[in-house]
Amino acid sequence: MERMRSVAVLGATGLVGREMIKTLEQRDYPISNLRLLASPRSAGSRVVFRGEEFTVEAVSEESFRNIDIALFSAGGVTSKKWAPVAADSGAVLIDNSSAWRMDPDVPLVVPEINPQDACEHKGIIANPNCSTIQAVVALYPLHREAGLKYVNISTYQSVAGTGMKAVETLKKESEAVLSERDCDSDGVYPHQIAFNLLPHIGAFDDDGISEEEWKMVNESRKIMHLPQLKVSGITVRVPVFRCHGESVTAQFEKELAPEKAKEILRNAAGVVVMDDPQKAVYPMPAAGAGKDAVYVGRIRKDTGLENAISMWVVSDNLRKGAALNAVQIAEIL
Ligand code: A2P
Repeated sequence: MERMRSVAVLGATGLVGREMIKTLEQRDYPISNLRLLASPRSAGSRVVFRGEEFTVEAVSEESFRNIDIALFSAGGVTSKKWAPVAADSGAVLIDNSSAWRMDPDVPLVVPEINPQDACEHKGIIANPNCSTIQAVVALYPLHREAGLKYVNISTYQSVAGTGMKAVETLKKESEAVLSERDCDSDGVYPHQIAFNLLPHIGAFDDDGISEEEWKMVNESRKIMHLPQLKVSGITVRVPVFRCHGESVTAQFEKELAPEKAKEILRNAAGVVVMDDPQKAVYPMPAAGAGKDAVYVGRIRKDTGLENAISMWVVSDNLRKGAALNAVQIAEIL
């Protein structure tokens, strides 16, 4: 018989937290008891799960008592504070922030790639960065065939990745621009995001590389167990509400024909190939939003590099890029 679990969601009122609750319901995760947690600001608010109303509680020292699995999506600082409390209570934590991802004692898991790592956890399992997840889901099956040597990625990341406030920012700014009013900054982004592109996600280091760009490099290496893999690229915030796009160029040790790459990706777990450019068939954020798959299209021979494939990879950053991946990890447990 399926074992029932007692589950807590910290960050239950946020964009990813809400999607986690929805994903648990849609995938019929075996839950005996659900506790919804957030900051004192939203304590008392109501959330419906499986037709029943649940009250959101402010997270406290008592919150994780008798909890088997805690899903966190409340930012790195909150995670650092509450992870030890959850661990002391005996819960297994699946954390969506970047707080623990590169900790050598914490597995960083994409179930289609390294599910076995989840079983080696010491209380915390990290959910990777959204942009990294969709890239590696498409890259790893090709790596198994031809051996990855170098990857270059340019991201087109939606505002949902920044959280609820950023979605409001894009709405407000779009309305302001369309009605020819001034776009006053609310501080979510360093510049206007509506009708604009910001090549700036996270802080820059002394070499001009952003935090998001380092996440792509380091997390890809860790998930695929390829510590020497060469990875470069740029991460860009775009005025799309939800669902990220990525231009990915991958160079391999061996030759890999685009037709072979398509065949491999058609059979790859979690991937849907949409690739008929002559008929204007390719993945797009407007079609991928709210869906589970990683969509891959424009699969072609790279015009500059030897043994290289270029492709366009689209996935909903709140689903596979966050909530779904976390729930899939919970399913492994
Ligand atoms: P709250 O609604 O009480 O602020 P998003 O990234 O979409 O903005 O969501 C962030 C989530 O993390 C929200 O559920 C938010 O709760 C929660 N959160 C933020 N800061 C804290 C904190 N200090 N303690 C607990 N939950 C927090």
